[in-house]
Amino acid sequence: MDVDKASATRALKDEIKKLKEEKGAVILAHYYTKGEIQEVADYIGDSLALARIASKLSAPVIVMCGVHFMGETAKILCPDKKVLIPDPEAGCSLADSCPADEFEKFVKAHPGYEVISYVNTSAAVKAHTDVVVTSSNARKIVDSFPADAKLIFGPDRNLGSYINSVTGRDMLLWDGACHVHEQFSVEKLVELKKQHPEAKVLAHPECKRAIILLADVVGSTAALLDYAVDSDCREFIVATESGILHEMQRKCPDKTFIPLPPNDSTCGCNDCSFMKLNTLEKLRDCLRDGRPEVTVDPEVAEKARRPIDRMLSLS
Ligand code: 13P
Ligand code: SF4
Repeated sequence: MDVDKASATRALKDEIKKLKEEKGAVILAHYYTKGEIQEVADYIGDSLALARIASKLSAPVIVMCGVHFMGETAKILCPDKKVLIPDPEAGCSLADSCPADEFEKFVKAHPGYEVISYVNTSAAVKAHTDVVVTSSNARKIVDSFPADAKLIFGPDRNLGSYINSVTGRDMLLWDGACHVHEQFSVEKLVELKKQHPEAKVLAHPECKRAIILLADVVGSTAALLDYAVDSDCREFIVATESGILHEMQRKCPDKTFIPLPPNDSTCGCNDCSFMKLNTLEKLRDCLRDGRPEVTVDPEVAEKARRPIDRMLSLS
């Protein structure tokens, strides 16, 4: 980073710190956001950790640096707080692959099924759900249902089929996916494994089955990070969004993390363009202006809260 850019970044971070204190705000950031956002956050974490932290905060203002459904989850759990997001356009292709009206029809077409939804969904989809899961607790929560329960799992077909494979279930899957995790190249993974035969492959369960089958560890962003910290291995090939490498490298400065590239690009990483919409400038502006604010229709929020609370109590 050149000197001017470094001092502008430092000044912005100072401004954010000052505004945060003035407004009584707490900044939460997902591991996929830019490193500079993670550096100014009070808490960083995976989806489950961020939901848990939001539910316990006493601060009047929460700024969610992540994507929109994470802001909605925080708002549903903390209806009396102001929940801000730096960029309201920070959506999620996986959440978008499951429109609430179509999901409602699907659920109604399958009476007698329990409905499990991944947290990467809109509040309106959660309102048609019995229990929410994240990639951290999906297996445990699915296992908590009786063996003969009829289960719908939405919207991620990759996570759903991974959970089917490890639990022996036959859940009915919604046909959705994340554009980032679908893009990882199996050929490039095979090539990287040849070049780095000692490296462990860490994969998020949103990846396609062919990637999962080549992985040594499959888990949420937090689980992959914990594994990298605890492992004696020195090299890791990382099949998830590249933002996680910031915290992996910070916690393990002597280890090497190699991001698995996507299919159709020569770049070395796989970014979620939505997560990367969170910038220091937008974070400063949203703290200063008190907007954009996340709102959830109270009736929808009430219905969506039950399956989120159920998840929190089961995990
Ligand atoms: P985690 O729950 O592992 O943080 O994943 C969230 C996500 O959006 C993955 O793409
Ligand atoms: Fe959504 Fe995929 Fe981005 Fe995660 S990486 S927030 S699932 S678009």
